[in-house]
Amino acid sequence: MAVIISGKEVSARVRSEVKAECEQLKSKGICPGLAVIIVGDDPASKVYVNNKKKACADVGFVSEEYALPAETTQEELLALVEKLNHRPEINGILCQLPLPKHLDEKAVINAISPMKDVDAFHPSNVGRIMIGDYHFLPCTPAGVMEMVHTAGIEVSGKNCVVIGRSNIVGKPMAMLLLHENGTVTICHSKTKNLKEICSNADILVAAVGKPKFVKGDMVKEGAVVLDVGINRDENGKLCGDVDFEEVEPKASYITPVPGGVGPMTIAMLMKNTLMAAKIQNNIE
Ligand code: GUN
Repeated sequence: MAVIISGKEVSARVRSEVKAECEQLKSKGICPGLAVIIVGDDPASKVYVNNKKKACADVGFVSEEYALPAETTQEELLALVEKLNHRPEINGILCQLPLPKHLDEKAVINAISPMKDVDAFHPSNVGRIMIGDYHFLPCTPAGVMEMVHTAGIEVSGKNCVVIGRSNIVGKPMAMLLLHENGTVTICHSKTKNLKEICSNADILVAAVGKPKFVKGDMVKEGAVVLDVGINRDENGKLCGDVDFEEVEPKASYITPVPGGVGPMTIAMLMKNTLMAAKIQNNIE
């Protein structure tokens, strides 16, 4: 029987801390502001963006949504980013990914001022994470680490296996575990002996994007299992990258889906936006 790490509880705590700090900033005449850009009408992106807006209102931030039509040009999008870069009351800028195919995601990420890049996707922020000298951490890996810390799990010296090597989750996740002295292995679609490598993990992070990919026989007895996936199973029900029924009995700690890593991502976005407002106003 595993201890279930509730992302609902941990994210509520993080958000209430952000809310309290936001009130303090407001007493100094500063109100954190987040601009969220969404291009086109991808239904999942719309849900995420709505949740981000709601979270802003909940912690006391101002948010502005820029819902642009799918046929927006690269020039129009870059012009908007540039305008937002120069507005002092906007502390964070987020462009929801994926963008429609005709737009160049890399160029858009590069155009966001690194000081307002609350997703931590800009190459300069990615580089800062690599050397351990950062302001912002990408929201999902930061959320996973927040859950690990809250549960009192020690990373130092542990075998950590991350399945998935995306720029948004897998790679930065591996780096954060390394910063805490984990011995880190990154697995991906070309990895040989995946089952054997995963079975050696004390801490296993699943960020593959495949429903119930991690089975019971891939997990060591007593492992910590952190599930970043959000998928639909064959019955259309939300599920993670981990087969919860099979894995939970073997794990010491596990994050559920839904109610695990998902809510943490938005809580960490709020934390990054607060940090951006503080930095831009020379506080701390
Ligand atoms: N698409 C999926 N996850 C994310 C995220 O964390 N930030 C942005 N901007 N887009 C995403």
